[in-house]
Amino acid sequence: MVTAYDAPAALLADQAGVELILVGDSAAMVVLGHESTLPVTMDEMIFLTRAVTRSARRPLVIGDLPFGSYEISDEQAVGNAIRLVKEGGADMVKLEGAGRMVARVRAIAESNIGVIGHIGLTPQSATRLGGFRAQGRTATAALRLYDDALELQDAGCVAVVLEAVPAPVAARITEALEIPTIGIGAGAGCDGQVLVWHDLLGLHGGRTPRFVRRYAELTEEITAALGEYVNDVRSGAFPEPQHTYSIPDEELAEFDDALAARG
Ligand code: KIV
Repeated sequence: MVTAYDAPAALLADQAGVELILVGDSAAMVVLGHESTLPVTMDEMIFLTRAVTRSARRPLVIGDLPFGSYEISDEQAVGNAIRLVKEGGADMVKLEGAGRMVARVRAIAESNIGVIGHIGLTPQSATRLGGFRAQGRTATAALRLYDDALELQDAGCVAVVLEAVPAPVAARITEALEIPTIGIGAGAGCDGQVLVWHDLLGLHGGRTPRFVRRYAELTEEITAALGEYVNDVRSGAFPEPQHTYSIPDEELAEFDDALAARG
């Protein structure tokens, strides 16, 4: 699984053999320029999901329910899950948390919408968790995560994302569940892995979490390419004749005559 937020990225992910595309609320930070994932709205998530589902053919597309779109009631959660599917074209939805959110998962699953859980480091509640830090690092916390995962499975989740969880804890949770786990900073013992598009491709200059492997350094490549373009435009090296369109000589002469006649 990889995140994507627009049609060209979804096409590339599809062509590369990615099986699941997550239109994550990480869009708030990596695409929309916010400091956290909290400000992104339902309408924005639908807009981005629609762009992805227009071009992703083979991968399943998961739309992320943003902060504020499911916490209030089961009705709110189901209503917004339906919007992601109906208006965004998502195949499934994802939401963060356990506890009270287990009922939301059940309500969405009972509405026949595939729902993926997300526990461990849940960025929508990062402030309450004490920041962007690993979870489940004490026996008590690990046991809570383990129980949360089982509850999410019982409520009807089709998979669970485990974020920033110690690898042995994630491995034990994976063994205990019948549904797949998808890890991000949760070790190789998960059934699948997810990374954020911009992290994986080296597309932004911010701090990279330790669980990211950068498979490219596109920020450097793009900055160099743009710099070359700027220099070429300034020096006149671009555009060249092959980058423009011709006009027949007689048409140009007539045009010049018309301009001359105007004085
Ligand atoms: O929003 C997102 O990109 C996510 C992944 C980090 C799992 O939730």
